[in-house]
Amino acid sequence: MTATTVSSRGETLAFPPGFVWGAATAAYQIEGGVREGGRGPSVWDTFSHTPGRTADGHTGDVACDHYRRHADDVRLMAELGLRAYRFSVAWPRIQPDGSGPVNAAGLDFYERLVDELLAADITPYATLYHWDLPQALEDRGGWTDRDTAYRFADYARAVHDRLGDRVGTWMTVNEPWVAAVLGYGIGVHAPGRASAAEAFRASHHLLLAHGLSARVLREGGAREIALTLNLAPVLTPGRLNDPELTLSEQDAEAVDRVDCLINRQFLDPTLRGEYPAPVLAIMDRHGGLGHIRDGDLKTINQPVDLLGINYYTPCVVRSEPGEPANAAYPGTEDILFSGAHAPTTAMGWAIVPTGLTQVLTRLSRDYPEVGLLVTENGAAFDDVVTGDRVHDTDRTAFFEGHLRAAHAAIEAGADLRGFLVWSLLDNFEWAEGYHKRFGIVHVDFETQRRLPKDSALWYREVIRHNGLHRERARRPTLEAVAARAGVSRSTVSRVINGEGTVSDEFRAIVMNAVNELGYVPNSAARSLVTRRTDSIALVVSDPPTVAGADDPAFSAVLRSVTRELEEAGKRVTLMLADSADGRLRVERYAASGYVDGVVLVSSHGADPLPPALARTGVPVVLLGRPGAAAHVPYADVDDAGGAAAAVAHLLARGRRRIAAISGPPDSTASQARLGGYREGLRDTGHRSIIAIGDLTLASGADAMHQLLRDDPALDAVFVAGDPMAIGALRVLIRSGRRVPEDVAIVGFGDIPAASHTVPALTTVCTPGVEQARTAARLLLRHLDGGPASSVILPTELVIREST
Ligand code: FCB
Repeated sequence: MTATTVSSRGETLAFPPGFVWGAATAAYQIEGGVREGGRGPSVWDTFSHTPGRTADGHTGDVACDHYRRHADDVRLMAELGLRAYRFSVAWPRIQPDGSGPVNAAGLDFYERLVDELLAADITPYATLYHWDLPQALEDRGGWTDRDTAYRFADYARAVHDRLGDRVGTWMTVNEPWVAAVLGYGIGVHAPGRASAAEAFRASHHLLLAHGLSARVLREGGAREIALTLNLAPVLTPGRLNDPELTLSEQDAEAVDRVDCLINRQFLDPTLRGEYPAPVLAIMDRHGGLGHIRDGDLKTINQPVDLLGINYYTPCVVRSEPGEPANAAYPGTEDILFSGAHAPTTAMGWAIVPTGLTQVLTRLSRDYPEVGLLVTENGAAFDDVVTGDRVHDTDRTAFFEGHLRAAHAAIEAGADLRGFLVWSLLDNFEWAEGYHKRFGIVHVDFETQRRLPKDSALWYREVIRHNGLHRERARRPTLEAVAARAGVSRSTVSRVINGEGTVSDEFRAIVMNAVNELGYVPNSAARSLVTRRTDSIALVVSDPPTVAGADDPAFSAVLRSVTRELEEAGKRVTLMLADSADGRLRVERYAASGYVDGVVLVSSHGADPLPPALARTGVPVVLLGRPGAAAHVPYADVDDAGGAAAAVAHLLARGRRRIAAISGPPDSTASQARLGGYREGLRDTGHRSIIAIGDLTLASGADAMHQLLRDDPALDAVFVAGDPMAIGALRVLIRSGRRVPEDVAIVGFGDIPAASHTVPALTTVCTPGVEQARTAARLLLRHLDGGPASSVILPTELVIREST
């Protein structure tokens, strides 16, 4: 490891001299112009044009129109003070069919881009493969075909021949794990195939492509050669908070197995010339090892100068006997991927900056020869344009946290040479389309207007100072707004609270200061003026499928909350917050003082609204249970206890192979029911068998089909929702099973239809109406100065003929 000293000049947390600051993008995500300049089709053109593959059918046809606007984009980078820019070359622009003659117009495009960058004093970093495989090669087997690796080396030579005199740093393949596993293993990325064996073949050939192209680049005289990997520390939930925690033998084995799959499967062959033994064993069980030929590992193990690290979030797992393998991680039977209890981005990814310190220090310990560069780090949030600003404080805080984490790694001796944010521009986020915005520059996809977000302006200062302020950036305060506007704090507070006593002129001055500073009012601002509106917002933040809005019980719940509040003399406003806009409207409405409190119907664990509302200082009570990140009082029902009772009942009836159909994993209620099911089986020696549905009748039927295929001998099933249970019951009967003689079934919820099925359904009755009333009463009590407490109501098993 190279010892790098970090100076701590006065107020700044300084990075080493010459530290590289920049941003990254990828061709298909920003270029558009898919039919321009002789470009051939790629797998992502085909995939995104296949109905149902990407969110709302979005494609990269136009994207950020960077193909035509590259000169403006480079000017923008210069204005933001970027010192480096990592872009990717689209293979189908260089070789439209993936092999054979080179298309000069394609090379011309990248040559213009590189020349513009150099003229602006921005160092170009070229990535050769960021997932846009020429479709013609996919038609011949794509990355499952060994020949693709050789074609890639030819292509690398052609690009280097033209640009090698001006581009010093070359990255071969971006994130082979994602390309192989999401593309070939589970099919959520192009080309959309779903086979573990194919994913392992594809990863090996991607590694081979790295080795072959690195050799070609070296022979061509490339100055710096790099490989970019998505790396994640693999942690248990306990280790998240306490990195020193001693793990049980089972947990340690689970962590090691997942680490081998996601990290060492790529680090070890490229940097050590070998596959870790657990990876070979798993590969052997999924398609065999025939695709690994003598000499491959030597080819893959080319000397590299830099390792590019893409870090977003850690991987959190623990040992859980009976858990089926995660499809994205073949060979992970008996391991539960639990996710982290931490605030999340709009992607639902847990924000854990210390994970970056762990990745970097681990690399410098285990692979000390290679220099390190963060080639991607960033976050999607639901940005809002206010006039000509985007106050993306969450994103700035995200970068600030991760830069501090990177700095800590450097202080611990990691040879980290630079940091590139993902991404320069909002862009086509693969299967998520344009819905997830990762840019530090906002893009209006209708007009193609670029608007640097506050995080970009903040980043420019970081670059200028080659470091951060020692003190963490603070959110603007009420005092700061008052000082900027030249008025008293109470005037600001009155404006924010919508009081009519401030003149229009002062109101305009205050609002101007609020916008300029990106101020978000909190409870301090509100408490200066105590006033009651006698209004309560009843906010539904779940999409109807999660909330079960099709279910008549749901409207009964809304009616009960409303009645309870109205009887206490409150006016109730019903608001929907099932979109980013809706959430923002609710947040603003609450923050502006229009309501005394909020009852929020939410069961989505990653729902950003509970913590956002809590920050406004308005009392909130949740109907449902908050995700781990939000500390909000709630009224819930004992989902876990109900599920455990159902399993105990099945065991008491002599059932031994008890499967479960769970609801969506991102719903807190589903998580609790699944937890109860597992709890019920714990210590019985029976394993858990789980399928997932989305609470609808059809999904229950599908899940039941799957369970019967996976385990034809099962004798009971616990279904975490009555509509799904009814779907499952139909499938059981159609498949010739006698219920309950052959298979017993228990539902959850006790909807009216449950007593009318044949046979009638045993189910867990949840006191929905009582829960609704309780939420309303908790809020009223809190408004009267009482404590902000939570309540969990008991559930009850209703035994009918199906068990
Ligand atoms: C990485 C990809 C990049 C972008 C970010 C969010 O896995 O390399 O293209 O999609 O994730």
